[in-house]
Amino acid sequence: MTDARQQALAYAHANNGRFLDELKDFLAIPTISTSPEHKADVARGAEWVAAQLRSLGMEKVQVMPTGGHPVVYGEQFKAGKDAPTILIYGHYDIQPVDPLELWTTDPFKAEVRGDNLYARGSSDMKGQVIASFKAVESIVRTGNLPVNIKWLIEGEEEIGSENLGAFIKKNAKLLKADFCINPDAGMISAGAPTITYGLRGLAYFELRVYGPDRDLHSGLFGGTVHNPAQALVELIAGMHDKKGRITLPGFYDTVRKVSKAERADFKRLPTTPKHFLQQTGVPALWGEPDYTPQERTSIRPTLEVNGLLSGFTGEGSKTVLPAWAMAKISCRLVPDQDPDEIYKCLVKYMKQNAPKTIKWEIKNLHSSGVAITEKDSAGVRAMAKGLEQVWGKRPFFKREGGSIGVVVQLQKYVGVESVLTGFGLPEDNAHSPNEKLHLPTWRKGIDALINMFYNAEK
Ligand code: BES
Ligand code: MN
Repeated sequence: MTDARQQALAYAHANNGRFLDELKDFLAIPTISTSPEHKADVARGAEWVAAQLRSLGMEKVQVMPTGGHPVVYGEQFKAGKDAPTILIYGHYDIQPVDPLELWTTDPFKAEVRGDNLYARGSSDMKGQVIASFKAVESIVRTGNLPVNIKWLIEGEEEIGSENLGAFIKKNAKLLKADFCINPDAGMISAGAPTITYGLRGLAYFELRVYGPDRDLHSGLFGGTVHNPAQALVELIAGMHDKKGRITLPGFYDTVRKVSKAERADFKRLPTTPKHFLQQTGVPALWGEPDYTPQERTSIRPTLEVNGLLSGFTGEGSKTVLPAWAMAKISCRLVPDQDPDEIYKCLVKYMKQNAPKTIKWEIKNLHSSGVAITEKDSAGVRAMAKGLEQVWGKRPFFKREGGSIGVVVQLQKYVGVESVLTGFGLPEDNAHSPNEKLHLPTWRKGIDALINMFYNAEK
């Protein structure tokens, strides 16, 4: 006689083709949270998630309104009060798909090529959401869940989870759990199962520079009017020094020192300089010389230009001196930096450095808090064992460069720690054209989650 765990795993293997079909249906809904024209699609995505949870026999399934896109909640409490209660987090929203012309196939018609499934959101993170749905399905169709579960599936992660904080604060009691499983943090490589115990925060800005009251003839006025595009890039160029350090006044004031022991641990990770070169295709790496690439992308703060816009950018040529220029700029933050303080640092930099020849304005778009999570806890042990049972090796523990708003919000308002893991790979093209999901890794992920539920203790 096979035990419950083996039956659930066998069910997952036998039904994987259908799981994939359902993932494709989910991927067909363009739940782009940042685009107002997709508001109805985002709402449809939430309903799709709610229907999945109902089909799994979850109770109290609700699409709950927030100040923005809705949250989907559901629960099952059949395992008794001695069993742990696990909160499972996911987000059903996705990033925009532009530039569309660089996609080999339609981002909303998921297609399998080789070992990969190509579609926007396949890796980040609809594939991960389906992995947790299907892990639970495999258990409830072959037996009983050994744990109590709650689901928190949001629709604003890709825009900073701005309204989720208030939602979590208001529903703190509803969301109480022993720990949260959050499979949005990816893994180092297909052969390297990973638990992430730190995420960077984010502060996102739009910087606008204004010059003349209209676009000018560059022959008539060029040479005596400071070109706003030039002024903007001069300002941006000054935001880093030659060593890659950020020059905004006070930017590093609250950066917490990382211990020698922790830095020594990072040396054991397989994220070597070569790994970063291979992942990105750049001719050479860049950054602060006193830190390794692994450290530069996790324990060091950054300032990035995410986009630039000014003047004539169409085909052909136009001799114009543009009236304005704009840059989208974001900073990844580390303990104990605070997004609001970073905004003040940027304003101070502009006050000190902006020339008299232009006017400027900064919009504070959104932010996300820095998170450090527990490295050893009941939840971490259950997940780590589940990963080991499938991959045959202990997971790596690392800090990551990305941001996930919910992690700090759960710590702050509910006192719940997240276990960050995931089955997305660095080469999955998250946020890029041709996003994909590595299916063999996804299948292993479902197995690891099934194991985690059976391993979990209070
Ligand atoms: N899944 C990512 C975050 C992530 C990526 C964590 C890799 C760890 C490793 C998530 O969906 C994401 O992209 N978040 C945004 C949040 C931002 C808009 C506040 C990010 O990090 O850019
Ligand atoms: Mn993302």
